[in-house]
Amino acid sequence: MSLPNLAPIPELYVSHESAQKLKVEAGNLPSWDLTPRQICDLELLMNGGFYPLKGFLSEADYDGVVEDMRLADGTLWPMPITLDVNEKFADAIEPGQDIALRDQEGVILAILSVTDKWEPNKAKEAEKVFGADDLAHPAVNYLHNTAGKIYLGGPITGIQQPVHYDFKARRDTPNELRAYFRKLGWQKIVAFQTRNPLHRAHQELTFRAAKEAQANLLIHPVVGMTKPGDVDHFTRVRCYEAVLDKYPQSTTTMSLLNLAMRMAGPREAVWHGLIRANHGVTHFIVGRDHAGPGKNSQGKDFYGPYDAQELFKKHEEEIGVTMVDFKHMVYVQEKAQYFPANEVPEGCTVLDISGTELRRRLREGLDIPEWFSFPEVVTELRRTSPPRAKQGFTVFFTGLSGSGKSTIANALMVKLMEMGGRPVTLLDGDVVRKHLSSELGFSKEHRDINIKRIGYVASEITKNGGIAICAPIAPYTATRRAVREMIEAYGAFVEVHVATSLEECEARDRKGLYKLAREGKIKEFTGISDPYEEPATPELRVDTTGVDVDHCAHQVILKLESMGLIKA
Ligand code: PPS
Repeated sequence: MSLPNLAPIPELYVSHESAQKLKVEAGNLPSWDLTPRQICDLELLMNGGFYPLKGFLSEADYDGVVEDMRLADGTLWPMPITLDVNEKFADAIEPGQDIALRDQEGVILAILSVTDKWEPNKAKEAEKVFGADDLAHPAVNYLHNTAGKIYLGGPITGIQQPVHYDFKARRDTPNELRAYFRKLGWQKIVAFQTRNPLHRAHQELTFRAAKEAQANLLIHPVVGMTKPGDVDHFTRVRCYEAVLDKYPQSTTTMSLLNLAMRMAGPREAVWHGLIRANHGVTHFIVGRDHAGPGKNSQGKDFYGPYDAQELFKKHEEEIGVTMVDFKHMVYVQEKAQYFPANEVPEGCTVLDISGTELRRRLREGLDIPEWFSFPEVVTELRRTSPPRAKQGFTVFFTGLSGSGKSTIANALMVKLMEMGGRPVTLLDGDVVRKHLSSELGFSKEHRDINIKRIGYVASEITKNGGIAICAPIAPYTATRRAVREMIEAYGAFVEVHVATSLEECEARDRKGLYKLAREGKIKEFTGISDPYEEPATPELRVDTTGVDVDHCAHQVILKLESMGLIKA
């Protein structure tokens, strides 16, 4: 007889035959193209990872989850799993209707039978679920700036799994993992959740945790969506593969979890526990600042360091997995081995390298000692994180028309080309409008589309190791922030505010546009009849009044040098 944690768990998929039929029928339904995050959520809904959820939350379940982490029937569930859509789509949908949910290539993955449609109170969701309505929290930022305004809820009929082309053999549904544990006769299993590369300290602590619990070990890294700026999952999985060889044979396995993390600290820890319980594990390692989102807009931590452990402990029984304390491991030089930080023999020298320090060493191409990590891991990280001076980056000029953006951008381009090393592309406002955005006008909507197109091209250039110089007006803070996020996933984003005053720009009126704008002959003209939101904290601010272009471009060069993006 199999243990309860290893018995099959309900999934939301229909049989293969029904799926074929449904797929044809669903072709006529209104369809929603899922966002990357929604695809992650849907996969775990369908395969039982989010059991007992049967679909995207109804309004009553959502209210309960937001308010006190419970579904309407009282079941513990800490995270709102909601289908957010835009108003236009929502207007055309009524409860009682079915909609087809498609992946980004248009493949129908599931049908949602809509039971609920509502406009959530996002500020309240942020406060309750993430602890503060503060845009410095990545999930709060997502909630306000990416997620749609309206939520749809209802049960899901699963047609097919989202397709993955990478690391197929390492991806397991909860039932596949349960079957694997059954097959190997593993009864106690400790899971380790991670979104970072593993180094020697992690290997030590996970191995110790498994030994203490007399259990086998599941390394269960998240490969769906993690914190913006994290090491990409391709690199991480190659690193994990290398570390896996360091455990004694047949004690440990690894499986990839296509979860979209929210970085919600304590609530996230409880959620992670429930997800792991569904995957058949009995124990779960919870650390200091588990799933922490970093600092808030006041520079303080969002959650206390042990909030996650406390909340988990409180609900341990309901979660159904035992919490294992994450011990902070440090290297003791004299003993040449790792010890939990609170068990270091007296008088010994402790060595430790923080995540920030590691990133600095990688960025600057400095030594990473053998006691800290495995050579295979370091090689892999160096391959994908070359020193900053070899990475791609974007310089994003913003400012009023006639402020001097294009002139400085041109001068900067030439200076960077003179230095050589990386290809340089200039995405000037006027040029982009001619080649990429010729159909667009100057309404807020059109300006946003224009800037996002520039951001997309710049992010591709940055990703591939080039330098992108952008020089649009880009008058809106939120849009500039969206572009920053797109680019920072791949390299540095250097915002330069060309802060030449409106009076000066108008006095110059190089294109004669201000005059026309004043006469009302050009509508929605930035600075005259349309807003310009000044950047509050750009990387650099320059004013071209009475200063020559060369000097301004040189200031940018100095900034790039100080950020380590170019070598002096
Ligand atoms: S935006 O807001 O970032 O999408 O604008 P951008 O693509 O940079 O385009 C700005 C250039 O278009 C000319 N132009 C206008 N600017 C602002 N408002 C209105 N209504 C407008 N109509 C035309 C103007 O020449 C801008 O060029 P620059 O190089 O900024 O002077």
